Amino acid sequence: MQLHKDFDLRPLNTFGISVKCKYLIEIEEETELPRAVEMATHFGYPFMVLGGGSNMLFTEDYEGSILYMRIPGISAETQGEEVLVTAGAGVVWHDLVQYAVAHGYGGLENLALIPGTVGASPIQNIGAYGVEVQDIFDSLRGYHLEQGFMEFDKKSCHFGYRQSIFKGALKGKFIVTQVRFRLSTQPNLKLHYGALQDALAQRGLVKPSIAEVAEVVSSVRVSKLPDPSSIGNAGSFFKNPEIPEAQFQRLKIDFPEMVGYPAGEGVIKASAAWLIESCGWKGKVIGNTGTYAKHALVLVNHGHATGSDIWALAQSIQRSVQERYGIHLEPEVNIIGRIQLSN
Ligand code: EPU
Repeated sequence: MQLHKDFDLRPLNTFGISVKCKYLIEIEEETELPRAVEMATHFGYPFMVLGGGSNMLFTEDYEGSILYMRIPGISAETQGEEVLVTAGAGVVWHDLVQYAVAHGYGGLENLALIPGTVGASPIQNIGAYGVEVQDIFDSLRGYHLEQGFMEFDKKSCHFGYRQSIFKGALKGKFIVTQVRFRLSTQPNLKLHYGALQDALAQRGLVKPSIAEVAEVVSSVRVSKLPDPSSIGNAGSFFKNPEIPEAQFQRLKIDFPEMVGYPAGEGVIKASAAWLIESCGWKGKVIGNTGTYAKHALVLVNHGHATGSDIWALAQSIQRSVQERYGIHLEPEVNIIGRIQLSN
């Protein structure tokens, strides 16, 4: 366990926002957690958990302690055609994907190049190109602040679209230390997502391998999404809003181009990127902030933006979409700071 005082979080959040926390406590083994939590509480400040910092917007200095999860390690256990792969919360997500692909274990290939760490992946049930973590999730282990170490199977995680019990009832009460995934030595590829199908067809790949799918997903992501090491961003800033089908059909009369996909009985998941682009925001630069020129759903830091600059842009976008379509865009990114209270 390592302790740093007045730590600048700029290298630890993909928006590249320079804010300080009172204490940063690096956790390398789960056995350090009870003491780290005790220390953080003893300091008398609030505390929060940080993984890859790829889904966070700090709007001001964090007046508290941050538990920075760095627990390493990947191991695998084969059971017939299935492989249980267990990874520490601090493992970089894409390193896990590469490990699986290199060993010929299928299941993670559509999730290649998602920024962040393994520990954060079940919290918001990360997803891309037709696959979500819940599809290959087996179980996880972590530290409950009141009840100690415990395990969760898939059912008890209450997964939903970018949602789980760890963002809901257990928010602020549970720290994930390791996650187990149920992968397969027999590829069971999920190739139905439009952009993935198009990219495979362009390359003439009719029966792609696991590695080829990971490779194609990676190149689609690189072509559409900015690399946080050169342009600060946190991927999709908002969730795709789920609206009643009747409302979607009504809107389609005035806006026939509007994009949406069925998301269960009578519900349509509207494309937030389309809503934002059609309000004229795509590629707009406002001071040090803006939306990415190739993907309207990605808010970016063009250099020296503060978290509140980005939050101000996000609110302007929310207002435009609300006024034009009557749809509320809910942030997918966690907004950290007092400012969130005025949302
Ligand atoms: N579109 C626009 N304008 C744009 C970009 C897209 O109108 O600038 C429309 C297009 O019609 C496109 C549709 O939106 O077909 C969907 O775009 P895309 O395939 O890029 O997916 P998304 O719904 O915008 C979601 C996830 C991404 C994930 C992609 C691919 C959310 C909030 N976002 O984006 O996840 O990579 O699908 O599966 O669900 C993230 O969570 O940070 C993230 C990047």
